[in-house]
Amino acid sequence: MSLALIPGSFDPMTVGHLDIIKRALTLYDEVVVAVMVNEQKNYEHTLQERTEMAELTVAGLDRVRVISSEGLLIDLFDQLGADVIVKGIRNEKDRAYEEKMAEWNLAHNPRAVTVFLQAADDYEQVNSTRVRELVRAGESPDNLVVPAVAAYLAALDERKS
Ligand code: PNS
Repeated sequence: MSLALIPGSFDPMTVGHLDIIKRALTLYDEVVVAVMVNEQKNYEHTLQERTEMAELTVAGLDRVRVISSEGLLIDLFDQLGADVIVKGIRNEKDRAYEEKMAEWNLAHNPRAVTVFLQAADDYEQVNSTRVRELVRAGESPDNLVVPAVAAYLAALDERKS
């Protein structure tokens, strides 16, 4: 059984992330999506909210589970007995950013190899920042997130205002 670990901030998870998860499922037996903390980022949503939105996004997909962790990716990798870390990349900027993390992870855990999946053209412009901007502007992020996440974000926005 091969297990792919897909870590990220997912603030929130987009249809672009979902495409990468689905593609990873064609390559590996099981996918664990880990909602984690990037110390460099100020999050719009709590770890719990980000996790709930990831769960809504992958609902109904077999062989995928969502977990959250505030620890190190390389430790989680060992705890899960993962075979590979999978990350999606859209462009050169993503690649440069991801390569640095992949190198750090590999230097600290020689088993923790990262495989990059190129995002499909359709998802090049899809990103979590855009989703947050739309929600802040009172617009719906339809087409960027699954409908259940759009509804979740709308309900959150209502509760906060
Ligand atoms: O979606 P992101 O923000 O690019 O994901 C980055 C993330 C959360 C995967 C990365 O910051 C991470 O692995 N965080 C867990 C803590 C850790 O292992 N840090 C080591 C430095 S890469």
